[in-house]
Amino acid sequence: MRGSNLSALLKESWTLVEERQDRLALHFYARLFLSHPPLRDMFPVQMDAQRARLLGAIVDAIQNFDDVERVDGYLRALGRDHRKFDVRPEHYALVKDALVDALREHAGEHWSLVYEQAWNDAYDLIASKMIAGGEADDDQPPFWYAEVLTHERRGPDVAVLTCRPLQPLTFRAGQYLSVECRYQPRLWRTYSMANAPREDGTIEFHVRAVRGGLVSGALVRRVGVGDLLKLAAPMGSMTLDPKSHRDIVCVTGGTGLAPVKALIDELSRYNRTRFVHLFRGARTRDDFYDRGNVDELVRRYPWLNLVRTVSDDPDFPDAAHGYVADVVAEHGPWDDHDVFVSGPPPMVKSTLTALSGLRIPNSRIKYDAFA
Ligand SMILES: Cc1cc2nc3c(=O)[nH]c(=O)nc-3n(C[C@H](O)[C@H](O)[C@H](O)COP(=O)(O)OP(=O)(O)OC[C@H]3O[C@@H](n4cnc5c(N)ncnc54)[C@H](O)[C@@H]3O)c2cc1C
Ligand code: HEM
Repeated sequence: MRGSNLSALLKESWTLVEERQDRLALHFYARLFLSHPPLRDMFPVQMDAQRARLLGAIVDAIQNFDDVERVDGYLRALGRDHRKFDVRPEHYALVKDALVDALREHAGEHWSLVYEQAWNDAYDLIASKMIAGGEADDDQPPFWYAEVLTHERRGPDVAVLTCRPLQPLTFRAGQYLSVECRYQPRLWRTYSMANAPREDGTIEFHVRAVRGGLVSGALVRRVGVGDLLKLAAPMGSMTLDPKSHRDIVCVTGGTGLAPVKALIDELSRYNRTRFVHLFRGARTRDDFYDRGNVDELVRRYPWLNLVRTVSDDPDFPDAAHGYVADVVAEHGPWDDHDVFVSGPPPMVKSTLTALSGLRIPNSRIKYDAFA
């Protein structure tokens, strides 16, 4: 089946079940766990609040099938990442069967064999990329234990943790990986490394405890020195292009600073020519955690320029006022720069919208939304 035709069939058939997602999810998980009960142990103990996490992710991947070749690298990395759950190649067919069974059951009379074939084909292609990614990583551990060496609170809701994996873990500055801690077993969340790879193997994370956040709350308030974390395989492509000589613009909100700090760390090892404009957006001055360390970087590196922006603190003298997206756009044009954007999804989205008017080629904009 041709790609565009397949995409159209996937979208069309999804409308048959879109409004019954809760029941679809119940059916999917029940069928999956009945077909192979040991799979239940891979999933969080308490599944009510996030019943549809895996199902939602698969449906998202299939509904964005148009982009499947563009996200080839991501799917391979996701397959590597899934080794942390002990996912094996034979599990993919069990998930597909549960998915197609749930769709068939809840789509009603308009469901057809053509739709069923479309879901099978799309799933198989995506799964084949994930399986290949997992297999290519066979010589690596499925996850790494890492000992927490330091844990410092840098503000009421932010902690900076340093840990050391017990086995070598290779990553690139700007990447992220998923983390599990003993206080929230089987709940994995992604965090960006805040440093470039070091000789001693240590890794720094910046974690903000979000309201009601299970893993971020545990990492900020419960985890301490000596605890062991589990880390999964690194992912993400917000990395420096080693061939580029262009100047750089980095736009960050909240702990979106972390991957950008890693990029600055990497540049500090060889950069003599590339100028880096760092925009740090926040609501108020109190949101600028780690301010002293960032100021120290600006003092140390003549090629680093910092602009703080606040949207909700009119008396703060040390910043530009307004949303970071607007301030960045006002400081442009940036059409001959490499651009990196990271932080909360609304901030990333508004920055990308603001940048879209500045004629920067898409290939030069890299971003991670912390959702
Ligand atoms: C590529 C990537 C890199 C990331 N890097 C970092 C990082 O370096 N540092 C960091 O602190 N976080 C980072 N995150 C966010 C992190 O993965 C978690 O989403 C976040 O810590 C919340 O997880 P939780 O288990 O505490 O919240 P959950 O228990 O999953 O959710 C609790 C509540 O918080 C809301 N919520 C979930 N995530 C967020 C969020 N990011 N902001 C605000 N509300 C949220 C949920 O909607 C829910 O209502 C990153 C995310 C991605 C996708
Ligand atoms: C096409 C195939 C698949 C895709 C695209 C996919 C994608 C994803 C993604 C993106 C997540 C993260 C969701 C999040 O945390 O927000 C996830 C979680 C997960 N996946 Fe997969 N996955 C696939 C197949 C599988 C298979 C075969 C298994 C094994 C049975 C599996 C087990 C899990 C588990 C246990 C989680 C965590 C669920 C949770 O925390 O609630 N996945 N998957």
